[in-house]
Amino acid sequence: MRMTRTQKCICCLVVVPLSVVILVLSHALQDGFSPKGYQDYRHDNSMSETIHHWSGQQGYFGPKTNKDNVTKTCSPAQNITFVKTHKTGSSTVANILMRYGIVNDLNFALPNKKWNSPGFNIISRAGEVLTKKYIYPLPEGEEYNILFNHAIYNRTAFRMIMPENAVYITILREPFRQFVSSFEYYRIDRGMVQVEPSLINASNLISTYLASPNLFLGKTTLFSYTKNKEAEDLGFGKEQFFNSESFLNYLSSIENDFKLVMILEYFDESLLLLKHELCWTIRDILYIPLNANNKKTVWNFTEVDHENHRRLSHLDYALYEHFLKVFTQKLKSQGPDFFLELSHFQMVLANVTESCEAGARLTVSGTVWNKPFVVDSHECDLLRMSVISGLELLYKRAGRTDNSRNESVIV
Ligand SMILES: *[C@@H]1O[C@H](CO)[C@@H](O)[C@H](O)[C@H]1NC(C)=O
Ligand SMILES: *[C@@H]1O[C@H](CO)[C@@H](O)[C@H](O)[C@H]1NC(C)=O
Ligand SMILES: *[C@@H]1O[C@H](CO)[C@@H](O)[C@H](O)[C@H]1NC(C)=O
Ligand SMILES: *[C@@H]1O[C@H](CO)[C@@H](O)[C@H](O)[C@H]1NC(C)=O
Ligand SMILES: *[C@@H]1O[C@H](CO)[C@@H](O)[C@H](O)[C@H]1NC(C)=O
Ligand SMILES: *[C@@H]1O[C@H](CO)[C@@H](O)[C@H](O)[C@H]1NC(C)=O
Ligand SMILES: *[C@@H]1O[C@H](CO)[C@@H](O)[C@H](O)[C@H]1NC(C)=O
Repeated sequence: MRMTRTQKCICCLVVVPLSVVILVLSHALQDGFSPKGYQDYRHDNSMSETIHHWSGQQGYFGPKTNKDNVTKTCSPAQNITFVKTHKTGSSTVANILMRYGIVNDLNFALPNKKWNSPGFNIISRAGEVLTKKYIYPLPEGEEYNILFNHAIYNRTAFRMIMPENAVYITILREPFRQFVSSFEYYRIDRGMVQVEPSLINASNLISTYLASPNLFLGKTTLFSYTKNKEAEDLGFGKEQFFNSESFLNYLSSIENDFKLVMILEYFDESLLLLKHELCWTIRDILYIPLNANNKKTVWNFTEVDHENHRRLSHLDYALYEHFLKVFTQKLKSQGPDFFLELSHFQMVLANVTESCEAGARLTVSGTVWNKPFVVDSHECDLLRMSVISGLELLYKRAGRTDNSRNESVIV
């Protein structure tokens, strides 16, 4: 989530439109993320030259040009399977899918668990094969349209539940950041101190953990919340862990199965690609960041910490680096309009966040990229809806009654 970038974008609003793209790009250049060994499209000279060139083409900025493009020729995808990964911004994507399904009156494949039971927001866990018994049943003759709760991906099993034409999507995050976020979220530090009480005053337990993971994780653990979790969520298993050929084969099957693998570090770009792939609207992909950790500790990691983590979670690195490459190639193949639409989308987001915070009603005017629309307080509530409160609403909608809410459950 680029809260900071979105906030910065509020500043963009006061400058003349022609400099907008350049400004957005220069923010991007400053935000410093550059995954090792892979080219960041924002740091690619040929790319920025092209964008500078485009930014001189006035026609792309005017809301008056190409009005026709708002009238769609494609038809929106409404059967969607989101493989929800952990600590990757996936709750924000889940919010988008919940809103879309509610607005378009679609059926959700919801977990079939007792409300408030441990992990009731999870459809199926590692080691459990997804079957219909894990899904809240629908009336006779109806079909599921959207699945967004946690379930370990299994090609065959998912296809026995979701419609044949369902679009598969997921999101990945840079593995070190994903690990730190998991470590904090699941309070791994507490478990460590139980194992080793002398660690109570250690200054950086994450480094300690990475230096001797076997002490806390067990030698035989291949996957856990702190180890190869992204790969596990996508269905990688023991075979892929030990055999690189099997890993590569499975990786390419994932690439074939998924229409889009989003990347948290390029969240807005990911959503805009999603909009295009699904033939959705800008309104459909609006968001306010959810389930994000706002009281972040500033850890000081060393090169050794990073090396240790790479060794610990080698599947996650291989997975992420592959799909980051696929993603940046997809971005590079976009025409000029994509990047102009991106800066427009980010300004709309900044306006939406600001007006929802202020409790105001926002009218977004029509442009080449969107019809005019209003964001009122009801829409703001939906934008802020967590997975748990969303589930509560969706169960009610599906006729389930016993659903008193419990926000303390992990999402
Ligand atoms: C409008 O659509 C046409 C045809 O698909 C495309 O060539 C053109 O680039 C689009 N223009 C904008 C501003 O989206
Ligand atoms: C979704 O899947 C159902 C069941 O296969 C199908 O009837 C429906 O047309 C699909 N909807 C879209 C928008 O593709
Ligand atoms: C995937 O699902 C199929 C169909 O239910 C099942 O036979 C198979 O064992 C599952 N694979 C794994 C790795 O769990
Ligand atoms: C941890 O720090 C506290 C407060 O400084 C001290 O009283 C305690 O003895 C320390 N514990 C260990 C195991 O070092
Ligand atoms: C990281 O370094 C900064 C500056 O030296 C320091 O203020 C901060 O406390 C350190 N953080 C941790 C978790 O040790
Ligand atoms: C955002 O809000 C500002 C101030 O109301 C307005 O001038 C601008 O046109 C809006 N931008 C978009 C993209 O909606
Ligand atoms: C909420 O869930 C937690 C964890 O399962 C449980 O300990 C707690 O008692 C629950 N609270 C309520 C009000 O049900």
